[in-house]
Amino acid sequence: MTWLCDFWRSSIGGKVTMAVTGLLLFGFVVAHLLGNLKLLAGPDSINAYAKMLHDLGPLLWVARIGLLVIFVLHVVTAIRLSSANKAARPVRYSKEATMQATLASRSMVLSGLTVLVFLIYHLLHFTLGVTNPEHFQKKAAGAQGFDVYAMVTASFANPAIALTYVAAQVVLFFHLSHGMQSLAHTLGLHHARYTPMIKKLSFLLALLIAGGNAFLALSVLTGIVKGAA
Ligand code: HEM
Repeated sequence: MTWLCDFWRSSIGGKVTMAVTGLLLFGFVVAHLLGNLKLLAGPDSINAYAKMLHDLGPLLWVARIGLLVIFVLHVVTAIRLSSANKAARPVRYSKEATMQATLASRSMVLSGLTVLVFLIYHLLHFTLGVTNPEHFQKKAAGAQGFDVYAMVTASFANPAIALTYVAAQVVLFFHLSHGMQSLAHTLGLHHARYTPMIKKLSFLLALLIAGGNAFLALSVLTGIVKGAA
């Protein structure tokens, strides 16, 4: 166990932790978006999906706890690496490249913390029903207690909520786009020939994910996806 802690504390161990946890979180946002897209297919589709997830019972809790551990590791390691970087920084930058790298990693910490704030709000909103109990109650009142469609459409019909989600997706886009480039770099994929391709791919994937989420919020707000009957 101590060798694992020593590895995590090392600079390369920290970077590998960021890459592996980042990849797993990326897998989660892709899966979550694919599930949420069922909103476009109507209430039966997304509500059956929500029921299927809840019917997993203890397995769902294993997945939730796993996700939480991965998330905490990602955040704690990011903060540790960023303060180690700051401590090691010379008083003056000798090269512009160093300055750019520091700016990029600083903006990653900032965008990451903003996504964390969004996530706390999102869980209070849809999972715990604290911020808008009137929307959360719609979920329990509907089909077999899993009317996620009614809850989500009632929420995004409110412009302040829909636009908050869209703003969070802009930040998520920057975080994912840069995060995937760092991930590729850590995995050793940095070569004059591949780097431009990796940049484009990271941009495109981040755009698809953040854009997909924003599209869902805006589809409800603009009436493309209608509220529950
Ligand atoms: C338009 C965008 C989104 C929609 C419509 C949406 C919808 C939902 C809903 C309805 C739930 C509650 C499911 C239930 O308890 O039945 C949920 C949970 C959750 N969402 Fe989202 N979500 C969106 C974006 C995101 C994003 C961008 C992230 C991550 C950055 C995220 C992370 C989570 C997490 C971690 C949970 C808790 C999962 C659990 O404990 O079961 N969501 N989301």
